Amino acid sequence: MKIAVGSDHGGFEFKEQIVRFLAAAGVEVEDVGCHSTDSVDYPRFADQVCARVQAGACERGILICGTGIGMSIAANRHRDIRAALCHEAYTARMSREHNNANVLCLGGRVLGIEVALDIVGVWLETEFAGGRHQRRLDMLS
Ligand code: RB5
Repeated sequence: MKIAVGSDHGGFEFKEQIVRFLAAAGVEVEDVGCHSTDSVDYPRFADQVCARVQAGACERGILICGTGIGMSIAANRHRDIRAALCHEAYTARMSREHNNANVLCLGGRVLGIEVALDIVGVWLETEFAGGRHQRRLDMLS
């Protein structure tokens, strides 16, 4: 699986750790930035990650900003992107099983890194359940 990962300055430190976590798990990563804690605009990075997912170049994306809110708002403006802002493993699992979320959003100023990595791990390994949930997703397009 190939994952596009992006952040603004509020999520930069988490992004670095998540990229290392994914690489250690054997997941191919495309890191679109940012590359420091200098202030940047989160919509630019949401656009880049979503474009990679829409193009099929990456199967899924992960976006981190200070709260995760800006990234989730920005990502969900893109067609065929289902971005889920998750704060613990349960919503991460349900976002895959029920919503087939293809972008995970996290708040770098909200979570501890251990919780964030737990969320990422669960989100990566959980499959979409399909069935009635696909019917509901079809209603969104
Ligand atoms: C940046 O200060 C902050 O606004 C951003 O990281 C994010 O939390 C926006 O939703």
